[in-house]
Amino acid sequence: MNKTYKYALLLLIGMAAIALMVFQRISSEAETLPYDDDQEGLSGQIVFKFSHVVAENTPKGQAADKFAELVYEKSDGAIQIVVFPNGSLYSDIEEINALKDGQVQMIAPSTSKLTRLSEKWGVLDLPYAFTSYAAITEGIHGPLGDELLKSLEADGLKGLAHWPSGFKQLTSNKGPIEKPEDLAGQTFRIMQNDIIQSQFNLLGATAKQESFNFTYNLIEAGEVDGEENTISNIYSKKFYTVQDHMTITNHGYLGYAVMMDQDVWNQQTDQTQRILLEAMNETTAWNDENAQKLESEQLQLIKEKSAIRIHELSEKDKLEWEEKLAPVYAEYADAIGAGLLQELAALQKKHLENQ
Ligand code: LMR
Repeated sequence: MNKTYKYALLLLIGMAAIALMVFQRISSEAETLPYDDDQEGLSGQIVFKFSHVVAENTPKGQAADKFAELVYEKSDGAIQIVVFPNGSLYSDIEEINALKDGQVQMIAPSTSKLTRLSEKWGVLDLPYAFTSYAAITEGIHGPLGDELLKSLEADGLKGLAHWPSGFKQLTSNKGPIEKPEDLAGQTFRIMQNDIIQSQFNLLGATAKQESFNFTYNLIEAGEVDGEENTISNIYSKKFYTVQDHMTITNHGYLGYAVMMDQDVWNQQTDQTQRILLEAMNETTAWNDENAQKLESEQLQLIKEKSAIRIHELSEKDKLEWEEKLAPVYAEYADAIGAGLLQELAALQKKHLENQ
Protein backbone atom coordinates (compact mmCIF):
# COMPACT_ATOMS: atom_id res chain seq x y z
CA MET A 1 0.00 0.00 0.00
CA ASN A 2 1.62 3.32 -1.04
CA LYS A 3 1.67 6.43 1.16
CA THR A 4 -1.19 8.23 -0.65
CA TYR A 5 -3.53 5.27 -0.18
CA LYS A 6 -2.60 5.03 3.51
CA TYR A 7 -3.43 8.73 4.08
CA ALA A 8 -6.75 8.44 2.20
CA LEU A 9 -7.74 5.41 4.27
CA LEU A 10 -6.84 7.17 7.55
CA LEU A 11 -8.85 10.23 6.44
CA LEU A 12 -11.89 8.08 5.68
CA ILE A 13 -11.67 6.25 9.02
CA GLY A 14 -11.35 9.62 10.80
CA MET A 15 -14.40 11.06 9.04
CA ALA A 16 -16.48 7.96 9.84
CA ALA A 17 -15.49 8.22 13.52
CA ILE A 18 -16.52 11.89 13.66
CA ALA A 19 -19.86 11.12 11.94
CA LEU A 20 -20.53 8.34 14.46
CA MET A 21 -19.82 10.67 17.41
CA VAL A 22 -22.14 13.39 16.02
CA PHE A 23 -24.91 10.82 15.46
CA GLN A 24 -24.57 9.45 19.01
CA ARG A 25 -24.70 12.97 20.47
CA ILE A 26 -27.89 13.86 18.50
CA SER A 27 -29.69 10.68 19.52
CA SER A 28 -28.79 11.07 23.18
CA GLU A 29 -30.02 14.72 23.12
CA ALA A 30 -33.32 13.58 21.54
CA GLU A 31 -33.79 11.04 24.31
CA THR A 32 -33.24 13.61 27.04
CA LEU A 33 -35.49 16.39 25.57
CA PRO A 34 -37.92 17.56 28.29
CA TYR A 35 -41.40 16.01 27.85
CA ASP A 36 -43.70 19.02 27.87
CA ASP A 37 -47.49 19.63 27.83
CA ASP A 38 -47.53 20.09 24.06
CA GLN A 39 -46.31 16.59 23.42
CA GLU A 40 -48.72 15.22 26.00
CA GLY A 41 -51.58 16.97 24.20
CA LEU A 42 -50.52 15.83 20.77
CA SER A 43 -50.06 12.18 21.66
CA GLY A 44 -53.51 11.95 23.26
CA GLN A 45 -55.38 14.44 21.06
CA ILE A 46 -59.03 13.81 20.28
CA VAL A 47 -60.39 15.32 17.08
CA PHE A 48 -64.11 15.83 16.41
CA LYS A 49 -65.28 16.92 12.96
CA PHE A 50 -68.14 19.45 13.09
CA SER A 51 -69.96 19.83 9.76
CA HIS A 52 -72.47 22.54 8.90
CA VAL A 53 -73.95 24.13 5.79
CA VAL A 54 -73.92 27.89 6.38
CA ALA A 55 -71.26 30.57 6.04
CA GLU A 56 -68.84 31.42 8.84
CA ASN A 57 -70.31 34.92 9.36
CA THR A 58 -73.66 33.62 10.60
CA PRO A 59 -74.92 32.74 14.09
CA LYS A 60 -74.28 29.02 13.50
CA GLY A 61 -70.90 29.60 11.84
CA GLN A 62 -69.69 31.85 14.63
CA ALA A 63 -71.11 29.65 17.39
CA ALA A 64 -69.36 26.56 15.95
CA ASP A 65 -66.04 28.47 15.84
CA LYS A 66 -66.55 29.80 19.37
CA PHE A 67 -67.33 26.30 20.64
CA ALA A 68 -64.16 24.94 18.99
CA GLU A 69 -62.09 27.70 20.63
CA LEU A 70 -63.57 27.07 24.08
CA VAL A 71 -63.07 23.31 23.88
CA TYR A 72 -59.44 23.79 22.81
CA GLU A 73 -58.80 26.18 25.69
CA LYS A 74 -60.56 24.11 28.33
CA SER A 75 -58.76 20.92 27.29
CA ASP A 76 -55.32 22.58 26.91
CA GLY A 77 -55.36 21.60 23.26
CA ALA A 78 -56.13 17.94 23.89
CA ILE A 79 -59.58 18.10 22.27
CA GLN A 80 -59.81 19.69 18.86
CA ILE A 81 -63.08 20.53 17.12
CA VAL A 82 -62.44 20.93 13.39
CA VAL A 83 -65.27 22.94 11.83
CA PHE A 84 -66.27 22.39 8.17
CA PRO A 85 -68.64 25.23 7.13
CA ASN A 86 -70.57 25.94 3.90
CA GLY A 87 -71.57 22.32 3.28
CA SER A 88 -67.94 21.67 2.33
CA LEU A 89 -68.24 18.08 3.58
CA TYR A 90 -71.96 17.29 3.43
CA SER A 91 -75.24 18.92 2.43
CA ASP A 92 -77.98 19.41 5.03
CA ILE A 93 -79.68 16.02 4.77
CA GLU A 94 -76.44 14.13 4.05
CA GLU A 95 -74.87 15.40 7.27
CA ILE A 96 -77.48 13.62 9.42
CA ASN A 97 -76.51 10.29 7.82
CA ALA A 98 -72.81 11.17 8.01
CA LEU A 99 -73.18 11.67 11.76
CA LYS A 100 -74.87 8.31 12.20
CA ASP A 101 -72.19 6.62 10.04
CA GLY A 102 -69.37 8.18 12.08
CA GLN A 103 -68.00 10.27 9.18
CA VAL A 104 -68.38 13.39 11.34
CA GLN A 105 -68.90 13.67 15.08
CA MET A 106 -70.96 16.87 15.41
CA ILE A 107 -73.64 18.62 13.37
CA ALA A 108 -76.16 21.41 13.97
CA PRO A 109 -78.94 21.07 11.39
CA SER A 110 -81.83 23.49 11.37
CA THR A 111 -84.62 22.03 13.48
CA SER A 112 -86.94 22.16 10.44
CA LYS A 113 -84.90 19.34 8.89
CA LEU A 114 -85.47 17.10 11.91
CA THR A 115 -89.16 16.41 11.25
CA ARG A 116 -87.89 13.43 9.24
CA LEU A 117 -86.72 12.01 12.61
CA SER A 118 -89.75 13.03 14.65
CA GLU A 119 -92.73 15.11 13.59
CA LYS A 120 -92.67 16.73 17.03
CA TRP A 121 -89.98 19.11 15.76
CA GLY A 122 -92.68 20.67 13.58
CA VAL A 123 -93.88 22.66 16.59
CA LEU A 124 -91.02 25.06 15.87
CA ASP A 125 -92.10 25.51 12.24
CA LEU A 126 -95.63 26.62 13.03
CA PRO A 127 -96.28 30.12 11.65
CA TYR A 128 -95.60 32.82 14.23
CA ALA A 129 -94.77 30.17 16.85
CA PHE A 130 -92.63 32.82 18.53
CA THR A 131 -93.06 36.54 18.11
CA SER A 132 -90.07 37.87 20.05
CA TYR A 133 -86.52 36.84 20.95
CA ALA A 134 -87.58 36.62 24.60
CA ALA A 135 -90.22 34.03 23.63
CA ILE A 136 -87.68 32.09 21.54
CA THR A 137 -85.17 31.96 24.39
CA GLU A 138 -87.75 30.86 26.93
CA GLY A 139 -89.28 28.23 24.66
CA ILE A 140 -86.11 26.80 23.21
CA HIS A 141 -84.13 26.63 26.46
CA GLY A 142 -87.14 25.53 28.55
CA PRO A 143 -89.20 22.32 28.80
CA LEU A 144 -90.39 22.58 25.17
CA GLY A 145 -86.85 22.67 23.79
CA ASP A 146 -85.67 20.00 26.26
CA GLU A 147 -88.40 17.59 25.20
CA LEU A 148 -87.38 18.01 21.56
CA LEU A 149 -83.69 17.37 22.28
CA LYS A 150 -84.65 14.30 24.31
CA SER A 151 -86.66 12.95 21.37
CA LEU A 152 -83.36 12.51 19.48
CA GLU A 153 -82.49 9.59 21.77
CA ALA A 154 -84.93 7.39 19.83
CA ASP A 155 -82.61 7.80 16.82
CA GLY A 156 -79.43 7.10 18.78
CA LEU A 157 -78.51 10.79 18.87
CA LYS A 158 -77.36 12.95 21.75
CA GLY A 159 -78.94 16.42 21.65
CA LEU A 160 -76.52 18.90 23.21
CA ALA A 161 -78.14 22.32 22.74
CA HIS A 162 -80.38 24.61 20.76
CA TRP A 163 -78.69 27.48 18.96
CA PRO A 164 -81.41 29.88 17.74
CA SER A 165 -80.58 31.84 14.60
CA GLY A 166 -83.60 34.13 14.28
CA PHE A 167 -86.74 34.82 12.30
CA LYS A 168 -87.39 33.96 8.66
CA GLN A 169 -88.10 36.66 6.09
CA LEU A 170 -89.34 36.39 2.52
CA THR A 171 -87.41 37.42 -0.59
CA SER A 172 -88.68 37.41 -4.16
CA ASN A 173 -88.16 38.71 -7.68
CA LYS A 174 -91.88 38.94 -8.40
CA GLY A 175 -93.30 42.16 -7.10
CA PRO A 176 -93.35 43.39 -3.51
CA ILE A 177 -94.88 40.94 -1.04
CA GLU A 178 -97.12 42.92 1.28
CA LYS A 179 -100.28 40.86 1.67
CA PRO A 180 -100.48 37.07 2.05
CA GLU A 181 -102.24 36.88 -1.34
CA ASP A 182 -99.13 38.35 -3.03
CA LEU A 183 -97.50 34.94 -2.82
CA ALA A 184 -100.07 33.34 -5.12
CA GLY A 185 -98.55 31.95 -8.30
CA GLN A 186 -94.95 32.36 -7.11
CA THR A 187 -92.42 29.56 -6.59
CA PHE A 188 -90.19 29.47 -3.50
CA ARG A 189 -87.26 27.37 -2.36
CA ILE A 190 -87.98 26.09 1.14
CA MET A 191 -86.27 23.76 3.61
CA GLN A 192 -87.06 20.05 3.53
CA ASN A 193 -90.17 20.23 5.73
CA ASP A 194 -93.86 19.52 5.07
CA ILE A 195 -95.28 22.04 7.57
CA ILE A 196 -93.49 24.81 5.72
CA GLN A 197 -94.74 23.34 2.44
CA SER A 198 -98.33 23.51 3.75
CA GLN A 199 -97.92 27.19 4.63
CA PHE A 200 -96.84 28.12 1.12
CA ASN A 201 -99.56 25.97 -0.41
CA LEU A 202 -102.17 27.67 1.80
CA LEU A 203 -101.16 30.99 0.26
CA GLY A 204 -101.39 29.64 -3.29
CA ALA A 205 -97.63 29.43 -3.85
CA THR A 206 -95.54 26.51 -5.05
CA ALA A 207 -92.78 25.41 -2.70
CA LYS A 208 -89.72 23.39 -3.69
CA GLN A 209 -87.94 21.52 -0.91
CA GLU A 210 -84.25 21.81 -1.81
CA SER A 211 -80.87 21.79 -0.11
CA PHE A 212 -79.72 25.10 1.31
CA ASN A 213 -76.56 25.14 -0.78
CA PHE A 214 -78.57 25.09 -4.06
CA THR A 215 -80.66 28.14 -3.14
CA TYR A 216 -78.55 30.84 -4.78
CA ASN A 217 -78.32 28.88 -8.05
CA LEU A 218 -82.06 28.15 -8.08
CA ILE A 219 -82.81 31.87 -7.76
CA GLU A 220 -80.17 32.89 -10.29
CA ALA A 221 -81.39 30.34 -12.83
CA GLY A 222 -84.97 31.57 -12.36
CA GLU A 223 -86.11 28.14 -11.19
CA VAL A 224 -87.68 29.78 -8.16
CA ASP A 225 -88.97 33.32 -7.71
CA GLY A 226 -87.94 33.56 -4.11
CA GLU A 227 -87.09 31.91 -0.83
CA GLU A 228 -87.53 32.35 2.92
CA ASN A 229 -84.62 32.64 5.31
CA THR A 230 -82.92 34.47 8.15
CA ILE A 231 -81.23 37.80 7.53
CA SER A 232 -77.84 36.18 8.20
CA ASN A 233 -78.34 33.54 5.47
CA ILE A 234 -79.78 36.12 3.05
CA TYR A 235 -76.73 38.30 3.71
CA SER A 236 -73.91 35.76 3.89
CA LYS A 237 -75.07 33.74 0.87
CA LYS A 238 -75.74 36.92 -1.08
CA PHE A 239 -79.38 36.07 -1.87
CA TYR A 240 -80.01 39.81 -1.60
CA THR A 241 -77.91 40.34 -4.74
CA VAL A 242 -80.22 38.16 -6.85
CA GLN A 243 -83.57 39.21 -5.33
CA ASP A 244 -85.44 42.48 -5.91
CA HIS A 245 -87.74 42.42 -2.89
CA MET A 246 -87.53 41.43 0.74
CA THR A 247 -90.37 41.50 3.27
CA ILE A 248 -89.65 41.53 6.98
CA THR A 249 -92.40 39.12 7.96
CA ASN A 250 -90.76 37.36 10.95
CA HIS A 251 -93.25 34.61 10.08
CA GLY A 252 -91.24 31.66 11.33
CA TYR A 253 -88.42 30.49 13.55
CA LEU A 254 -85.09 29.16 12.29
CA GLY A 255 -82.64 27.62 14.73
CA TYR A 256 -80.36 24.63 15.19
CA ALA A 257 -80.11 21.50 17.30
CA VAL A 258 -76.48 20.66 18.05
CA MET A 259 -75.95 16.92 18.31
CA MET A 260 -73.56 13.97 18.40
CA ASP A 261 -74.05 10.27 17.91
CA GLN A 262 -75.09 8.74 21.27
CA ASP A 263 -72.51 5.91 21.05
CA VAL A 264 -69.70 8.35 20.27
CA TRP A 265 -70.82 10.45 23.24
CA ASN A 266 -70.92 7.39 25.54
CA GLN A 267 -67.38 6.43 24.54
CA GLN A 268 -65.95 9.72 25.86
CA THR A 269 -64.41 9.96 29.33
CA ASP A 270 -66.24 11.90 32.07
CA GLN A 271 -63.66 14.64 31.69
CA THR A 272 -64.18 14.99 27.93
CA GLN A 273 -67.96 15.03 28.38
CA ARG A 274 -67.63 17.70 31.08
CA ILE A 275 -65.43 19.90 28.87
CA LEU A 276 -67.79 19.54 25.88
CA LEU A 277 -70.84 20.38 28.01
CA GLU A 278 -69.21 23.36 29.68
CA ALA A 279 -68.08 24.77 26.34
CA MET A 280 -71.52 24.07 24.84
CA ASN A 281 -73.36 25.90 27.64
CA GLU A 282 -71.10 28.94 27.33
CA THR A 283 -71.46 28.98 23.55
CA THR A 284 -75.23 28.66 23.75
CA ALA A 285 -75.56 31.65 26.10
CA TRP A 286 -73.19 33.63 23.86
CA ASN A 287 -75.14 32.69 20.71
CA ASP A 288 -78.44 33.94 22.18
CA GLU A 289 -76.98 37.47 22.19
CA ASN A 290 -74.80 37.18 19.13
CA ALA A 291 -77.58 35.95 16.82
CA GLN A 292 -79.67 39.05 17.54
CA LYS A 293 -76.69 41.34 17.13
CA LEU A 294 -75.75 39.81 13.76
CA GLU A 295 -79.33 40.03 12.52
CA SER A 296 -79.54 43.78 13.04
CA GLU A 297 -76.00 44.44 11.76
CA GLN A 298 -76.49 42.40 8.61
CA LEU A 299 -79.91 43.90 7.87
CA GLN A 300 -78.18 47.26 7.95
CA LEU A 301 -75.46 45.99 5.60
CA ILE A 302 -78.05 44.67 3.13
CA LYS A 303 -79.68 48.11 3.13
CA GLU A 304 -76.34 49.83 2.54
CA LYS A 305 -74.95 47.47 -0.07
CA SER A 306 -77.92 46.81 -2.32
CA ALA A 307 -80.93 48.21 -4.05
CA ILE A 308 -83.23 45.46 -2.78
CA ARG A 309 -86.58 46.95 -1.83
CA ILE A 310 -87.47 46.15 1.76
CA HIS A 311 -91.01 46.11 3.04
CA GLU A 312 -91.83 45.78 6.76
CA LEU A 313 -95.18 44.35 7.81
CA SER A 314 -97.12 46.54 10.18
CA GLU A 315 -98.57 44.95 13.34
CA LYS A 316 -102.01 45.05 11.67
CA ASP A 317 -100.67 43.30 8.54
CA LYS A 318 -99.02 40.66 10.71
CA LEU A 319 -102.38 39.74 12.24
CA GLU A 320 -103.73 39.15 8.75
CA TRP A 321 -100.78 36.84 7.92
CA GLU A 322 -101.21 34.99 11.20
CA GLU A 323 -104.88 34.44 10.51
CA LYS A 324 -104.27 33.19 6.97
CA LEU A 325 -101.64 30.72 8.14
CA ALA A 326 -103.47 29.56 11.29
CA PRO A 327 -105.07 26.40 9.72
CA VAL A 328 -101.61 24.79 9.73
CA TYR A 329 -101.87 24.42 13.54
CA ALA A 330 -104.90 22.14 13.23
CA GLU A 331 -103.47 20.27 10.23
CA TYR A 332 -100.36 19.18 12.18
CA ALA A 333 -101.87 18.96 15.69
CA ASP A 334 -101.82 15.14 15.81
CA ALA A 335 -98.34 14.88 14.36
CA ILE A 336 -96.87 17.35 16.85
CA GLY A 337 -98.82 16.16 19.87
CA ALA A 338 -101.06 17.92 22.39
CA GLY A 339 -98.37 18.34 25.08
CA LEU A 340 -96.00 20.42 22.96
CA LEU A 341 -98.86 22.43 21.47
CA GLN A 342 -100.14 23.29 24.95
CA GLU A 343 -96.67 24.39 26.03
CA LEU A 344 -96.38 26.59 22.96
CA ALA A 345 -99.85 28.08 23.52
CA ALA A 346 -98.96 28.95 27.15
CA LEU A 347 -95.76 30.65 26.02
CA GLN A 348 -97.56 32.57 23.29
CA LYS A 349 -100.16 33.79 25.79
CA LYS A 350 -97.52 34.87 28.29
CA HIS A 351 -95.46 36.78 25.72
CA LEU A 352 -98.51 38.39 24.15
CA GLU A 353 -99.49 39.74 27.57
CA ASN A 354 -95.93 41.05 28.11
CA GLN A 355 -95.84 42.90 24.79
C1 LMR B 1 -81.89 26.50 5.12
O1 LMR B 1 -81.85 25.37 4.62
O2 LMR B 1 -82.39 27.48 4.57
C2 LMR B 1 -81.28 26.65 6.50
O3 LMR B 1 -81.64 25.57 7.26
C3 LMR B 1 -79.80 26.69 6.45
C4 LMR B 1 -79.25 26.80 7.83
O4 LMR B 1 -78.69 25.81 8.31
O5 LMR B 1 -79.39 27.89 8.39
